[in-house]
Amino acid sequence: MMTVVERWNIHPEYDWLRGRRPDSPIEFNEKKGAWDVFGHAECQTALGNYKVFSSQIAHLLPVTVESDLMEGDLSQTDPPKHRKLRNLLTPYFTPALISAMEPRIVTIVKELLDEVDGRPEIELVADLAYPLPVIVICELLGIPAGDRAMFKGWADNIIESFSGMQFLDEEEGQKDVDEGTERMQPMLRYIREHLDERRRHPREDLLTHLATAEVDGERLTRNEAVTIAIIMLITGHMTTSMVLGNTLLCLDAYPEQAARVRADRSLVPGSIEEAMRLLSPATVLPRSTAVDTTIAGRDVPKDQLIFLWLAAANRDPAVFDAPDEYRPERDPNPHLGFGRGIHYCLGAGLARLEAKIALNDLFDRFAVLRADPASPPTMFPTEDMIGVNRLPLHTQ
Ligand code: HEM
Repeated sequence: MMTVVERWNIHPEYDWLRGRRPDSPIEFNEKKGAWDVFGHAECQTALGNYKVFSSQIAHLLPVTVESDLMEGDLSQTDPPKHRKLRNLLTPYFTPALISAMEPRIVTIVKELLDEVDGRPEIELVADLAYPLPVIVICELLGIPAGDRAMFKGWADNIIESFSGMQFLDEEEGQKDVDEGTERMQPMLRYIREHLDERRRHPREDLLTHLATAEVDGERLTRNEAVTIAIIMLITGHMTTSMVLGNTLLCLDAYPEQAARVRADRSLVPGSIEEAMRLLSPATVLPRSTAVDTTIAGRDVPKDQLIFLWLAAANRDPAVFDAPDEYRPERDPNPHLGFGRGIHYCLGAGLARLEAKIALNDLFDRFAVLRADPASPPTMFPTEDMIGVNRLPLHTQ
């Protein structure tokens, strides 16, 4: 049977999406001057050992990113600073608080789908997968969800300018980063204005918390608070949107599995996890070696750039039976799609909950959800993401 990757020719440059395993769990990539790690065990080890595999990579890149934009980026920070930043956010993402958001998420999904109910065709991303996580995160932060059309432009800019391996190309990369930084200014101004307003008039929202909270007796700097708010607002919603789209893409490609999930809704969470594994939105994570080390028998010196290919590790046959098959009942499913260790995704519970509620409502309303080769889905083009950007679906 044709796989979902073959059906839509997703990322033709990646052999490991097509049933061919990399020759070795780690390879030195001459062109990038960096190491590619593909094995599940090796990725997991690296994610679990921040003393050897640091999240600070800026010093190894040939491009310079304005330091204001990096301050507070907890995903590029090591302990002890990382712990302080993360501790500030964890109270907003406890399992109890996430479950308490369920009724509101149900309502948002219902309202969005009411708009398109009865139509013979929907565009999953514009109609549901994009607005849903944006509205949820806006409400958590306390930003008007009505401004979301602007966020889409900003998100597209970030993807274009700051993701992908163009970082490694000194000339092109610097041009992209400089242009992207310029185009980020309206977003930075927008967030700064909201933060300043919260300092003057505190409310019960995450933005007020970022504006006023203290870590070890010190407030976050304005730049730190802005960066954290942007991570939440932009990266959080893009990936969540992709997961919902990718799950629908998998269900469409494997109709027998889709029928089983429809009939037995206890399989819904598994169908989302399995889509995270097969089409992992966060495809690759960068790290740097803080000391000389060894990975799968290869000596890797200090100060090397390492790319952990989560999406390849998630198809490692040493860990997953029939790794290229979509099996919603796969249990356990130790995919690395949300990372591992101290940087494990803070929004994982929220993303899972949104996707589950959305999928259940889609099943309840539409007897058919079928993609169409005549109007095919489009994927985000960057190398470090696997994610649906547009997905027209027939509903009859
Ligand atoms: C399905 C959707 C999502 C995926 C696939 C995803 C993926 C990831 C991954 C792989 C990491 C680890 C980064 C690393 O180790 O370098 C991460 C970290 C993070 N994610 Fe997510 N994420 C998703 C949704 C969200 C949402 C909804 C939020 C917030 C509302 C969020 C906030 C964060 C934050 C703040 C971090 C940094 C944590 C740290 O460094 O301690 N993510 N995410």
